[in-house]
Amino acid sequence: MTLSDVRNQTDLSERVSIDRTGNRILIIEDQPEIRRLLAHYLMTQGYETKTAENGLDALFLLEQWRADLVTVDLNMPIMDGHDFIEKSVIRWPDMPIVVVSGIGAVDQAVDALRIGARDFITKPIENFSLVNNTIEKALEAAELIRQNRDYQQNLEKKVEKRTIELEEIKRQLLYSLGKSAEYRDNETGRHVIRVGKICLLLAEAMGMDSTLAKTFAEAAPLHDIGKIGISDIILLKPGKLTAEEWTIMKKHCEIGCDILRDYSSAKEHDGVEFEEIIRMGDDIGALSLLEMAMVIALCHHERWDGEGYPCNLSGTQIPLIGRIVTVVDVYDALGSERPYKKALSEEICQKILREGKGSHFDPQVIDVFFANINEVLAIKKEWMD
Ligand SMILES: [Fe+2]
Ligand SMILES: [Fe+2]
Repeated sequence: MTLSDVRNQTDLSERVSIDRTGNRILIIEDQPEIRRLLAHYLMTQGYETKTAENGLDALFLLEQWRADLVTVDLNMPIMDGHDFIEKSVIRWPDMPIVVVSGIGAVDQAVDALRIGARDFITKPIENFSLVNNTIEKALEAAELIRQNRDYQQNLEKKVEKRTIELEEIKRQLLYSLGKSAEYRDNETGRHVIRVGKICLLLAEAMGMDSTLAKTFAEAAPLHDIGKIGISDIILLKPGKLTAEEWTIMKKHCEIGCDILRDYSSAKEHDGVEFEEIIRMGDDIGALSLLEMAMVIALCHHERWDGEGYPCNLSGTQIPLIGRIVTVVDVYDALGSERPYKKALSEEICQKILREGKGSHFDPQVIDVFFANINEVLAIKKEWMD
């Protein structure tokens, strides 16, 4: 029994039989009689075949006639099998290549396998069922690789779709959370949308990285989340607050920070001082969305001159994201109607902002605000209550 016979028997017993009728096979062979013999045999097996005399002709032919498999001789004039394999695996990486090599050229055949051939058959061909068997095996392997890749790509697409869906759910939940706090004294909830959009505008105008600016714009609407913890009697009181009520009202910053702290790294060090949490805002690139929201909730009532609350920080001690939200929040709240106040005219809102430059507000943020006033007004108009 020859080596070929052994391979033939083993392979036949392991092979799953699949109908390959109509598959295209290109035979690359310089010896005319072997070329014709192979082509004829494979046609009788149901394959569609074409032939080429050397590697170069084969490369040209494959550009017009995509083969499902090629058989290639190694020693040919003009372009040999080795060169053909090297070039075709780059151009058609999925196309299986079966080498048909002389019995004395085992080293060359092994080298061909190393550079991308799928299998090899030795010449002279004595047993044609071995040819058939080898070709079917190579086609099956190529099909499996293709199916596996399709499955992988499908899976990647599904993961990508699911990630987008989860991002959207997160966005909606955070928006709802911000709106739920706002809803108690502002029934449309559009204040939080306007604050987010104007914050994005100003942050980008101040040169903030656009991904960070978007995260900031999603965090800003949560600035008053702590209002959830303030009693209606105080929150909705039509008149002026007493000193005691005002002290309670101011607590919404710390309450907001505490609500969001549970979802952030600050939870790891419970009892962290509020000042320390504000310091996290110095490096916003390192913050998650909820951490940014936590910093903003805590410092959106600080003032540039140090007269704000809860930490009496001043100037650039207040993180930039807090300073931007302060300007946008005050501006939008002034122009909005609340149970305890009428909406002020646009002219008065702008006047208050100008007058507060350098005292209540960061002068640079005010400058950027007025440099972009047309865009601000467009947002205000689009998202009117
Ligand atoms: Fe607030
Ligand atoms: Fe607000």
